[in-house]
Amino acid sequence: MEELETLSPEREALAIVRALRAELERQLASGSVGLPRAVRSAAVAESAVAPPEFEAPRTSPVERAAVVERAAPPRPVYPTEPPASEAPEYPAFAQAPASAPHQPAAAAQSTAARPVAAARPEPARAPASDLDPTTYGLADPKRQQRLELLESQVRGCTRCRLHEGRKTTVFSRGTGRLGLCFVGEGPGAEEDEQGQPFVGPAGQLLDRLVATMGLLRDDIYVCNIVKCRPPGNRAPEPDESALCSGYLEQQLELLNPEIIVALGATAVRGLLGIQEPITRVRGSWRLYRGKVAVMPTFHPAYLLRTPSAKGPVWQDMVEVLKKLGRPVPDLKAARGPSRD
Ligand code: URA
Repeated sequence: MEELETLSPEREALAIVRALRAELERQLASGSVGLPRAVRSAAVAESAVAPPEFEAPRTSPVERAAVVERAAPPRPVYPTEPPASEAPEYPAFAQAPASAPHQPAAAAQSTAARPVAAARPEPARAPASDLDPTTYGLADPKRQQRLELLESQVRGCTRCRLHEGRKTTVFSRGTGRLGLCFVGEGPGAEEDEQGQPFVGPAGQLLDRLVATMGLLRDDIYVCNIVKCRPPGNRAPEPDESALCSGYLEQQLELLNPEIIVALGATAVRGLLGIQEPITRVRGSWRLYRGKVAVMPTFHPAYLLRTPSAKGPVWQDMVEVLKKLGRPVPDLKAARGPSRD
């Protein structure tokens, strides 16, 4: 729609009507509702590309095994995810160094679910309507300030039973300045200790995936469906997700992402309100609240148990990169010549 500025008023009106009609027809076909945001390619284009971890020396199989051994108690097995034998060969992000060097996270210091209908009245909402619709995340000081306010509300939250066992609330990490947001399930033990999402073994794998995409860890906003750790790393109960959903809704409204990656079945349910198995929805674009593109994919904790599922996840990330208008790294070229 950027070119509209150069059109005559009549042609501009015609272009808008055509765009609206195309969108409504697409929504009729997909069953979703609402208007999408304009594509903000200028903001996307100025983003940095730096995949340093991808170039780093590989770990040996023994080191990789040690990483898996150090893993926190596994999350409950996702019954809906596929047998490993069905997944294609997985790409190189599996072999990157176990721990991506953590970027200093402005967002993390400042900061870190929709869906199931909220069961109680919401606290006062920070308005998002007066914010610049072309900015993303903490790159915009106003958005940052309101996200910080929301985070402070979350810190005092006692809406559901999860607050009883938490050490700290876990709101977000990353600036989200590229318009890309990953949503997981809920904090695990490490996250509960550190107050940041995805800092345990699953988070380290997520970091390697992001690095393989050619993106900086701190540029990606990461958060969860629930902000407090479910005991024993179980999945959040539906009522816990519902009681937390107002926070995620506000968080995403203030963040204003172009694309959300839903990590695993809980995130898909929480964001999209759909019960379909992750195996069926993975890899196909959906809409959050009728306006934000969502790519459902497997949860990194599942990838730790099923490395062969990394292939489909990489395919999903390729679609995300294309939609963001970013270059898609050629993993084969990066790996070098085959030794066969
Ligand atoms: N798994 C999640 O879904 N979220 C986290 O923050 C960590 C692990």
